[in-house]
Parts: sequence; C-alpha cells; structure tokens
Amino acid sequence: MKTLPLDLGDRSYPICIGAGLLDRPELLTRHILGTRVAIVTNETVAPLYLARLRAHVASLKPVEVVLPDGEQYKSLEVLNRIFDALLAAHCDRRTTIIALGGGVIGDMAGFAAASYQRGVPFIQVPTTLLAQVDSSVGGKTGVNHPLGKNMIGAFYQPRAVIIDTDTLNTLPDRELASGLAEVIKYGLIRDPEFFTWLEVNLDKLLARDPEALAYAIHRSCRNKAEVVAADERESGVRATLNLGHSFGHAIETGVGYGNWLHGEAIAAGMVMASDLSRRLKWLSTADVARVEKLIRRAQLPVRAPSTLSTARFLELMAVDKKVLNGRLRLVLLKRLGEAVVTDDYPRAELEGTLASMREAA
Ligand code: NAD
Ligand code: GLY
Repeated sequence: MKTLPLDLGDRSYPICIGAGLLDRPELLTRHILGTRVAIVTNETVAPLYLARLRAHVASLKPVEVVLPDGEQYKSLEVLNRIFDALLAAHCDRRTTIIALGGGVIGDMAGFAAASYQRGVPFIQVPTTLLAQVDSSVGGKTGVNHPLGKNMIGAFYQPRAVIIDTDTLNTLPDRELASGLAEVIKYGLIRDPEFFTWLEVNLDKLLARDPEALAYAIHRSCRNKAEVVAADERESGVRATLNLGHSFGHAIETGVGYGNWLHGEAIAAGMVMASDLSRRLKWLSTADVARVEKLIRRAQLPVRAPSTLSTARFLELMAVDKKVLNGRLRLVLLKRLGEAVVTDDYPRAELEGTLASMREAA
C-alpha cells in the first residue's frame, strides 16, 4: 500500500492506495469517531462490495442507504433519501458517513455529510477509476440541478480516502475509459512527463495491467493533492483541474444527465479547449493532434454531440461556476503540461471552436 497525504493543516487526511484494501478494517475504523456509521452506496455496487465493508463495522450496526444507480439520480430529491434514513435511525452528530461507489455516490454522500446536522465525519471508499483519481480527493461535494451540473454543493473534506485498486476488476470498459479522461487531464494541465508516460503506457491501462493502473492512480492523486493543498476553495490554481469541464458540463446537461458519461464529456471538452488554445496560437496543430490521438486511443469521444448547436452551447456554458461578472473564464493550455484560466479570448474564436468541433450529424 502507498499513502499520500493531502496537506490541509489540522484537516489533513491520508489517501491510501493499494490492492485488497477493502480487507484492511483498520484503515477504515481508525477514522470512525463515534459509535454510529452509515454506508451510502448504490444498487450496482452494493451486491459487489457492501458485505465486505459492512463486516468491518458490523458491531456498530451500520445504517445502509442503497440509492438508485445513475447520474440522473444525483439530485436533491434522491439526496433527501440519505437524510430520511439518517433521521429514521436517529443518527447523531458523531455518525460517520462512508461513501462506497463512484463519483455520484461520493459527491452525494459527501454533501449529505456536509449538511446533516451541520456536518458529520465522512470517509471516501471510491470504486471507479474516475472516483479514485479525482472525485474522492479534494472535498468537492454536491448534486446536479436540471439547469446546471454540480450547481448545489459544498466544499467538505473526508477524513480518509481508501482506494482498493482491485475494485476496478469489476468496472465496465466504458467506465474505465471515462476515468482515463481525468487521468489524461493531469498530464495536460501540469505534468507533461506523465502525458508522455500515458502515450507510452495507455494500452497497458486499457488492458488493466495492475502495476500501470496503480502508478497512474498514485500519480493522479499526487497531482490532485498538490493542487488542492495549494488552493482548497478554488480561488486560483484549482480551477485548472476543470480543463474541458465548461464544454463538458454543457454537453452533460445538454444531452441529459447520464447519456454521456462524465469522463466522455470531459474528453471531448479537453479537445475543444485544445482547439481554442490553438486558435489563440498557444498550441500547435501537432500538439492538438497529440491530445486528440491519446484521447481517441483511450476510447473516448473527441467531438461534441451534433445535436448541440453553437447557440445552445453558449446558453449552457453561461451557467458555469467559472462565470465571473458575466464573463466565462475558460481553462486553456499555454502548452502541453501548462494550463491557464482566462476570460481573455475573442468570442469569435470560441464560436469557431463550438462550430467546428462537433460530430458529423
Ligand atoms: P458513477 O458514480 O456513476 O459510476 C459509474 C458506474 O460504475 C455506475 O454505474 C456505478 O454503479 C458503477 N460502479 C462503480 N464502481 C463499480 C465497480 N467497482 N464495479 C462495477 N461497477 C461499478 O460515475 P463516476 O464516473 O465514478 O463519477 C462521475 C461523477 O463524479 C459525476 O457526477 C461528476 O460530476 C463527479 N465528479 C466529481 C468530482 C469532484 O471533485 N467531486 C470530480 C470529477 C467528477
Ligand atoms: N474536479 C475538479 C476539482 O476537484 O477541483
């Protein structure tokens, strides 16, 4: 097992990465403060992994909340089911909430932990590649609104992130690819050596080579932990973690939550951000081709859906957390491995990207 620290002073926490960690009860129990525990998971993950987690806390008679599976259920209505279960079981302020699942469960359980009785302890046990390399680390929690992705939420850090890389063995190929989008993101925004490593080792990741996956998860978490430690509440550099997200969130909302996976939308969004960076003469045509080739090899889309018009895209992008004083700030690339956040781009160039980077109808 490898342990990375996320350094946030007295709210620092460990990110434990390794095979078989679901069978290491002490990793979990040392972070449980009170005598109550609630495990939040979904109907796909529960039959796979809930029994193993439950066994470690059986003496505490855990409350189990099994939600429906899917991005379309990441809503205030479904979040309320967590509160219903906690209140029905008389859970107190020292109840520890454990999120067992992908990013949807992690974000919802985290927001429930942030707001139940004004905040209870929280542990992340992520089981998708995307959640292991990104969403379980850094304390962004929340739910979607019909008008915009992740629009309701809170910054709320877990007490520990426990990543059992063996859980990836049951993950569908399409979900593995979705997680690779966020892995590639770290190479593009701040780790050019990792980008080159991914170009060399992508086939191993697609073949689920355990060593390659463990390396990619560790390096991704290290990148994320460094950025979050430097800017926990996104007043600066943390925004670069949203490369491709202004485009991607518009795609996810525009086609209906759950139709494009998060990583798929971010993949197309990163190619769009690269294209706009080329229009601003920061990236070369060859750079954009490298980005597009790696994303294509990862079995991810490189164009936005044909059904989203430029006008609809702009409308959707206007509801973005990076809009400040009516100007949409975008994460763009100065070069491969260096991101900037800027609102200084000609609108015509953005429209050029939106018009040209769509799938053929
Ligand atoms: P997800 O949670 O929907 O999981 C994907 C699918 O895999 C689901 O069907 C799930 O039931 C299934 N699954 C989970 N673990 C499995 C396993 N081990 N074996 C088999 N099936 C398994 O999606 P995701 O890609 O994990 O996360 C996407 C969400 O994360 C989005 O809502 C996105 O907004 C959010 N996100 C949040 C952050 C953050 O910083 N908080 C960062 C990135 C993404
Ligand atoms: N996924 C973006 C962030 O955590 O900031």
